Amino acid sequence: MSHEAIPEPLFEVGDSGIDPDHRALAELLDELERVCTNPATPDGRCDHCPERKAHACHGSLKEICAKMQALLLEHFQREQELMNSLPRNAATRAHCERHRREHVNFSTRYNVAAARLNACHPATSALEVETLVLDWIRSHALEFDAELAALLHRSATASPRYA
Ligand SMILES: [Fe+2]
Ligand SMILES: [Fe+2]
Repeated sequence: MSHEAIPEPLFEVGDSGIDPDHRALAELLDELERVCTNPATPDGRCDHCPERKAHACHGSLKEICAKMQALLLEHFQREQELMNSLPRNAATRAHCERHRREHVNFSTRYNVAAARLNACHPATSALEVETLVLDWIRSHALEFDAELAALLHRSATASPRYA
C-alpha cells in the first residue's frame, strides 16, 4: 500500500472550522485515484483485468464513495452551523441562502453519480466521481467557502468567537 498520499493543502480557505473537512475530502480524492492499481489499464477500462479484480475494485470504489457521501453531509452541516453563527444582515443572509442552495444542488448531483457507479468499469467510475467532486470543490471553495471564511473572520474581529 502506498503511503505517499499526503494531501496537498488544496481547497483551504483559512478557517479552522472548514479546512479539516476540505483536507479529508482531498484525502478521499487521493483514495479514488488509487482504486485502479493495474498499470495495464491506462484507458481506465477493466477489460484486461480478471473479473474478481474488477469486483474488488468496485467494492473499494463503493466504500470510498460512501465515505465521501458521509463526509459531504457532515461538512455541509458544519458549514451551515458556521453560517448560523454569523450576525444577521442583508449580506450574510444573501450569502447563506446561496451557499445552502449550492450544497443542496451538489448533494443531489453527487448522490445521483454515486447511485450510478458502473460495476464493470470501476476505474472509469472512480475517475468520473473524482472529476465531479474536484471540479465542484475547486470552484465552490473559491466562490462560497472563501466568502464564508471572510464573513466569519470579519464577525470574529468585531466580536471574537474564542474570547
Ligand atoms: Fe466546504
Ligand atoms: Fe460550502
